[in-house]
Amino acid sequence: MGRRLFETRTRDYPLRMPVPPPDAPPSPSGEQWRAHGAAPNRYADNWRHRDYHGVRSTSLSQAPERLQRVAVELLRKAVIEEVRRIMGDRPIRRVIDAACGPGDWAMAWAALGARVSGFDVNPAFIAAARQRAAEGLPQASFDFSVADLIEYDAWDGADIVALGACVMYVDDAALEDLLAKLSHALTPGAAVYVRATVPNPLQPSLYHPFGCYRDRSVYQRAFERRGFRLARPPQTSLQVVLDAHLVRRLRSLGPGLSAAISGPSRLLTMLRREREFCNWFLVRQ
Ligand SMILES: C[S@@+](CC[C@H](N)C(=O)[O-])C[C@H]1O[C@@H](n2cnc3c(N)ncnc32)[C@H](O)[C@@H]1O
Repeated sequence: MGRRLFETRTRDYPLRMPVPPPDAPPSPSGEQWRAHGAAPNRYADNWRHRDYHGVRSTSLSQAPERLQRVAVELLRKAVIEEVRRIMGDRPIRRVIDAACGPGDWAMAWAALGARVSGFDVNPAFIAAARQRAAEGLPQASFDFSVADLIEYDAWDGADIVALGACVMYVDDAALEDLLAKLSHALTPGAAVYVRATVPNPLQPSLYHPFGCYRDRSVYQRAFERRGFRLARPPQTSLQVVLDAHLVRRLRSLGPGLSAAISGPSRLLTMLRREREFCNWFLVRQ
């Protein structure tokens, strides 16, 4: 997809982040931002002024770059195929890629032939997304804007909303508010794809100044309260990939194959007490 425009640096996206002391001052970038009259959002402050160095998978940050790229491509393909399947015959005219970063997913969503609206709190990411989309997919239809997830208000008319790896950066009240807005704006049958870092079953939810790593059940209850139904059980990213690329082809070997294949790796993740990505495919009822 076009040439590589930026250098990659994974260390900016650590999953095991240090917990600052409770009396730690807000980041200077956050203070600068507030001085310009913006609403305080301590999680977004951590993202707003990052430079873009390329995107690599956080969950695979120890793996070689090439492997990460392949894995993330497989996940994107699997997710988009699954959302298309869930949508059935419903026409897909508009996709909103919330917190789109530098546009990798937005460009992938364009494969559905819809207009893709991407927004992010970081102006450098949005500039990168615009440039990469214009160079990589000049025939596709995009609009990119700088906006905060907790303030964005243009959800109307979306057939698909993607909330990829971003709901960890809003607090509980803002998450409720976001889901309420989505519930109000989306028509029945619209799809919402959510991917969030969650603690695995051996860890408690973790709330700290860099993000909220809530238990899966917290999300599930919040989705249900706002009228979103699960189109399939939530899965880790590995399970989504295995299901799409392997298990469906081997279905004759029996149900539960995905769990059987991904089980050992999940167990290892749990024992190492690592967080993991959970994927939800939701439908507005
Ligand atoms: C881990 S990246 C995920 C990027 C992409 N959505 C994906 O699925 O890979 C998190 C993104 O969320 C953005 N972000 C964090 N807080 C935000 C907020 N309050 N509003 C909008 N974007 C936000 C960051 O700037 C960053 O691009």
